[in-house]
Amino acid sequence: MPRALVTGTAGFIGFHLARALLDAGWEVAGFDGMTDYYDVTLKQRRHQILLQKPGFTATEAMLEQAGAVRDFAARVAPDVIVHLAAQAGVRYSLEQPRAYLDANVIGTFEVMEAAREAGVRHLLMASTSSVYGAETALPYRETQKADTPLTIYAATKKANEAMGHAWAHLHGLPVTMFRFFTVYGPWGRPDMALFKFTRAILEGEPVDIYNHGEMWRDFTYVDDLVRGIVGLIDAVPPLPDTGTEPVPGDTLSPVAPFRIVNIGNGESVKLIDFVEAIEAATGRPALRNLMEMQTGDVPRTWADASLLRALTGSAPATPVAEGVARFVAWYREYYRV
Ligand SMILES: NC(=O)c1ccc[n+]([C@@H]2O[C@H](COP(=O)([O-])OP(=O)(O)OC[C@H]3O[C@@H](n4cnc5c(N)ncnc54)[C@H](O)[C@@H]3O)[C@@H](O)[C@H]2O)c1
Repeated sequence: MPRALVTGTAGFIGFHLARALLDAGWEVAGFDGMTDYYDVTLKQRRHQILLQKPGFTATEAMLEQAGAVRDFAARVAPDVIVHLAAQAGVRYSLEQPRAYLDANVIGTFEVMEAAREAGVRHLLMASTSSVYGAETALPYRETQKADTPLTIYAATKKANEAMGHAWAHLHGLPVTMFRFFTVYGPWGRPDMALFKFTRAILEGEPVDIYNHGEMWRDFTYVDDLVRGIVGLIDAVPPLPDTGTEPVPGDTLSPVAPFRIVNIGNGESVKLIDFVEAIEAATGRPALRNLMEMQTGDVPRTWADASLLRALTGSAPATPVAEGVARFVAWYREYYRV
């Protein structure tokens, strides 16, 4: 049975990925520090669901605790590591920048060491669309320079991409970096727009709409994203000079078994249309509180997902109305509202 070590399994995306891998017959060893960045009960509930499935084991520790992931990986002996645990969130990085350095820079280094020592066949790690920063050419392609990050969150993720490349080069360790675009769906993150908007609309509170609604996001439904991750697990970047034909638009490094792949829906949706989808799903009107643009934020994201499609044969496609309706149904059941 193939075995994956997944970090961040109590988190939104890690939970969905672990569940999909377990359902596909994998053994999954989860690693999560259960940080209190948001409601820990939600994280515990996600882990409880995973623990009911055969093949799931979990450990609770911090990434940056020296040796913690490495010892766990030595015990588990995984075939692959998918590293999703991180200090996420654009806004919080303005208040607590150091948390990002600890979790994302030191923590990711520990994960890379664990992967090297365990000799995994593939290390896959989460980056973000935020690394495109001030880039204006749309849709975003992986080949753009992306060297203008606007927050420490984006900067630490950009650092992770560079660190991953160096480790792939030095140790011949195949590394894939994902750039995720605004992921949403059931069991989602309470600090993200869909969660906050749904709660506010159901409670009759105003929703904060930044940049007076002149905002667009490439919203990616979590099941689509997980399908992309699972597909990429088998798309192991080859060592250089092995005669492997790159696929069109490939980002393969000339000196390392390393590539970067966008995982996005390939559609840029206006925030107001997103709010309207929540109104339709809840059957309630939103009280719109139009606000200025937030520091560190970008007005628009939009993924070119053609590399993902070339590597895995498919790309995210769930329409926002459908994904939002599924989230709202989950939210109402979970919170009994
Ligand atoms: N959700 C999105 O829209 C999105 C977009 C781009 C990138 N990402 C990236 O995807 C990954 C998963 O994001 P998510 O939305 O599931 O976030 P999440 O916050 O729900 O999950 C992250 C998990 O990591 C754990 N964690 C955080 N810091 C830790 C530490 N120092 N040690 C051990 N565990 C720690 C948390 O307890 C949490 O369960 C992250 O790397 C994030 O940066 C997410």
